Amino acid sequence: MYVLNGPNLSRLGTREPDVYGAETLADLTALCRDTGRELGLSVEVRQTDDEAEMIAWLHEAADGRVPVVLNPAAFTHYSYALRDAIAQRTAPLIEVHISNPAAREEFRHTSVVAAVATGTIAGFGLRSYVLALQAVAEIAQ
Ligand code: DQA
Repeated sequence: MYVLNGPNLSRLGTREPDVYGAETLADLTALCRDTGRELGLSVEVRQTDDEAEMIAWLHEAADGRVPVVLNPAAFTHYSYALRDAIAQRTAPLIEVHISNPAAREEFRHTSVVAAVATGTIAGFGLRSYVLALQAVAEIAQ
């Protein structure tokens, strides 16, 4: 399965640490791989700042019936192209956020992807990914 991360998430650790914490993308990758191992999931973690690349990964997941944990980052709030790619999913896709967007600026209150995801987990720091991986392990056949 894939853990896909959108724009600016390569900057974890230095990016607004008061909001996103001190841990890096490398820490997040290790956490997801370790959690996957415990749950019997083979986890591939990717990050891109590029909308087209993210859409290509979602097409790949849809073609391969691969479950996805997705942090769409800022794409969450405006990318109908990402939404249309997610709508093609053939396996569970969990939307995750490190912060709780509902408790932040107004523009973050809208997710244009939530309605086509299996579900959303937000606000638990990097634990959001652990919870999402647990959800995948429970619901994916
Ligand atoms: C985020 C929340 C988004 O609003 C923001 O644009 C991000 C990160 C999160 O994980 O909390 O880049 O998706």
